[in-house]
Amino acid sequence: MSRGVFITLEGGDGTGKTTQAELLESWLAEQGRAVVRTREPGGTEVGVEVREIVLHHRGDIAPRAEALLYAADRAHHVATLVRPALDRGDVVIQDRYIDSSVAYQGAGRVLDPDAIRSLSEWATDGLKPDLTVLLDLDAASARARLDGARTRFDRLEAEASEFHDRVRGAFLALAEAEPERFLVIYAAEPVDVIAETIRARVVALL
Ligand SMILES: Nc1ncnc2c1ncn2[C@@H]1O[C@H](COP(=O)(O)OP(=O)(O)O)[C@@H](O)[C@H]1O
Ligand SMILES: [Mg+2]
Repeated sequence: MSRGVFITLEGGDGTGKTTQAELLESWLAEQGRAVVRTREPGGTEVGVEVREIVLHHRGDIAPRAEALLYAADRAHHVATLVRPALDRGDVVIQDRYIDSSVAYQGAGRVLDPDAIRSLSEWATDGLKPDLTVLLDLDAASARARLDGARTRFDRLEAEASEFHDRVRGAFLALAEAEPERFLVIYAAEPVDVIAETIRARVVALL
């Protein structure tokens, strides 16, 4: 068993994952903890190339190929960055992990979510988060935030809002199935209130 703490942030785009990851990182650093903040896809050099394909490739990618690309990114990321950090005793704060693959691919209704999970569990040799923070927000509110911040959308963000509502439902179902691992937060709360809720839960893990 590793000595570190593995925290993942999940939820749709615009729910506040990056905002909260930054706040948690600075707070933990103030406590004197070594922190690695990272993301999937794209947390490594190889991952940046994979991310470019899965998020920005023009034209279709066969669903199984897409699933394998995410899994390949994850395998390399966990083996070369996440596990070494956890073995050192660091706190790893990660934007998106296996739950995102299961929720997005499952909501796409093309592939079996259990198969997606098995693939990622094989890819990571079974590495599980100690805590998963799910930032839950309706698709319309999340989109409104993003519209305010940006004009260009990647392949997944451009999907219909009905798809994003299914993703939201899939995340909530995952959280319900593993209540001990998940902290579900209503993401329309003010930024600092959410940050405090996360810190209160993280303290128990340190
Ligand atoms: N709790 C919040 N209330 C209102 N706006 C927020 C909140 N959290 C984040 N935002 C804003 O919403 C936008 C998306 O946040 P971000 O952290 O980038 O989300 P994500 O990483 O999940 O896509 C940003 O403009 C951010 O400032
Ligand atoms: Mg983000």
